[in-house]
Amino acid sequence: MPRIAVIPGDGIGVDVTTEAVKVMVAIRASGIDLQWDEFDYNADKYLATGITLPDEEVENFRNNYDAVYVGAVGDPRVPDMTHARDILLGLRFKLDLYVNYRPCHLLDESLCPLRDKGSDDVNFVVFRENTEGVYTHVGGHLKKGTDDEVAIQTSINTRKGVERICRHAFEYAKANGLSKVCMSDKSNAMRFEGDLWQRVFFMVAKEYPDIEASHWFIDALLMQMVKRPEQFDVIVSGNMFGDIITDMGAQLCGGMGLAASGNIHPGKTSLFEPVHGSAPKYAGKDVANPMAAILTVGVMMETLGYPEWTPRLENVVRKMIKTGNVPRDMGGNLGTAAVGDWVVKNL
Ligand code: NAD
Ligand code: IPM
Ligand code: MN
Repeated sequence: MPRIAVIPGDGIGVDVTTEAVKVMVAIRASGIDLQWDEFDYNADKYLATGITLPDEEVENFRNNYDAVYVGAVGDPRVPDMTHARDILLGLRFKLDLYVNYRPCHLLDESLCPLRDKGSDDVNFVVFRENTEGVYTHVGGHLKKGTDDEVAIQTSINTRKGVERICRHAFEYAKANGLSKVCMSDKSNAMRFEGDLWQRVFFMVAKEYPDIEASHWFIDALLMQMVKRPEQFDVIVSGNMFGDIITDMGAQLCGGMGLAASGNIHPGKTSLFEPVHGSAPKYAGKDVANPMAAILTVGVMMETLGYPEWTPRLENVVRKMIKTGNVPRDMGGNLGTAAVGDWVVKNL
């Protein structure tokens, strides 16, 4: 009996989570005893009470739930992102969700912004290291607010952290019959972390002689993703570069409205969320595209041991694209709720 903690969050996070929950209802109706509870951690709660995400709740998620599902967090009334950092990055760090899995599969050729590229060309997955790098909140200010101000943001890279994400990328390739893993960093300029990533990646690669291990510097990688995306099966990178790679990857597949993701620690309570944010200007207007949120339910089910739901949901989305039943960001006119209803009806 999988148990899910659902956090709709802010902005369109709320709109798209409503549709994701419709799909969970359909999954339960199909015979899987899926259960979920909703939690109201968001900007409203933070502004009213000062509460972001209490440590006891993180322990509750860890001990009593199999997954956490997040819509999106981020609100213009909280410009320093305090609550979003505690909720999203807090869960990634405290649950040690070191694998940020962000598949980039072009579901229909018509969606690709690249000339002459199809579904066989844009067909790769990205593994973003999710617990280290510049996201660790290590650093500080000196003489803040003065002319002599200093800001330091430190990038943390551990041998263990780099090794486990690189190994995960190779294991995924092996398990899925994929022949190439590409690592990306900026080791020509950032020598200390770059040296560690280079040594560890190619050391792990030796354990997988049947898989081709390659490397692009991050600037060249982004250029290659546009020029020759067909060269990629699996891409592995650090936290910040992985963030950047996956927004571009999303656009190659038709935009943020379609990009799903999982923040995973294999075997432990993991977190699932669309790649997109809370897009405040679209909140509550029935225009946000919930497909990313719905496909994220597929990634969640896949991780929980029900792999059939990803192809099932992808097939419905493909059918919607083929028949022009798509929301505004994809050139159609279906509202957020209508997309969810369409998916459920056609599952
Ligand atoms: P965003 O992804 O929220 O929106 C950027 C643009 O992408 C939108 O203006 C819209 O044009 C488009 N878009 C994104 N999702 C869409 C959808 N489902 N349907 C239709 N169009 C969609 O990114 P942003 O504007 O940089 O960030 C807004 C807030 O969200 C910020 O507070 C940011 O920190 C936060 N954020 C949160 C997450 C998360 O919770 N995982 C991820 C990214 C950004
Ligand atoms: C994402 C988001 C987050 C990140 C932000 C909201 C901190 O952009 O999930 O991709 O950078 O990881
Ligand atoms: Mn991002």
